[in-house]
Amino acid sequence: MPETVEIFEMGPRDGLQNEKRLIPAAEKIALVDLLSQAGFRRIEVTSFVPARWVPQMADAAEVLAGITRRPGIRYAALTPNLRGYQAARAAGADEVAIFASASEGFSRANLNATVAESLERFAPVAEAARADGIPVRGYVSVVTDCPFDGPTPPGSVARVAAALRDMGCYEISLGDTIGQGRPETIDAMLQAVLNELPPDRLAGHYHDTAGRALENIDASLARGLRVFDAAVGGLGGCPYAPGAAGNVATEAVAAHLETRGFRTWLDMALLREAADMARGMRKE
Ligand code: HMG
Ligand code: MG
Repeated sequence: MPETVEIFEMGPRDGLQNEKRLIPAAEKIALVDLLSQAGFRRIEVTSFVPARWVPQMADAAEVLAGITRRPGIRYAALTPNLRGYQAARAAGADEVAIFASASEGFSRANLNATVAESLERFAPVAEAARADGIPVRGYVSVVTDCPFDGPTPPGSVARVAAALRDMGCYEISLGDTIGQGRPETIDAMLQAVLNELPPDRLAGHYHDTAGRALENIDASLARGLRVFDAAVGGLGGCPYAPGAAGNVATEAVAAHLETRGFRTWLDMALLREAADMARGMRKE
């Protein structure tokens, strides 16, 4: 039996958050609805962050209210603090994500906080979600390279991943935020993180800036990871990480996994359609 690898679709959030044109909510809703037909079990729809920080996500509640929910799919949202969590809950997010950095430089730029302060801010989010029965995912960013602090020590990634685990995150997604990881650095990072968490609680979130995301996915498959984040059309990037380019494209990851003998259970024709739609949003 071929093994299954899950792709967690990031397009509506990580894919669109950095686009300059303010994309109307109706277009985002159409993208989520198309993605809902393609076979994903989890789709990251939006984030509940101040509009001043990420103007593109200011319509978070409107987008979540407008999508057609398919049974069996969890519609997720990023929540930087308790206020964001409460708004995400009110808008009907099925799961939330808290997002920390492995480096101080990126933590300051992206969260206006030290790593320790950000973890303190996430604790009440995790606590509230536990009380509400809402699954919480954790991100660790800049897992191999930071645009401010340079190469990231693997031990720093392991420490932050462990802190997020201790808060109750069911899965930790490891972000190569600026897409500078190489199979060797990804492998060294995973080796450290695997001392804290088993591979079935980890996901790879690799941006494709240097065109090495698929190689980095291969290195992660070899370490036992079976969940990868990707965005249709290869859109994306973090506005607070200079040099961050798109997420690895979902359609490229799905095709790659199939040729490696894994099953994703995704509809490739619908993925291509969604990728065209996402790229069309960028061009207008
Ligand atoms: P801050 O400015 O220090 O926050 O930002 P604050 O607590 O001082 O609040 C500032 C103002 O925002 C206040 O309003 C608050 O009420 C309001 P004012 O009094 O000025 O009128 N506010 C909010 N409004 C709406 N929703 C909220 C909220 N919270 C406060 N939730 C903060 C601190 C953490 C909020 C900010 O730094 C932030 O939101 N950062 C997130 C930036 C972001 O979204 N980055 C992109 C996503 S992360 C990413 O892409 C990486 C990832 O893909 C993985 C990878 O690739 O590595 C996940
Ligand atoms: Mg990202």
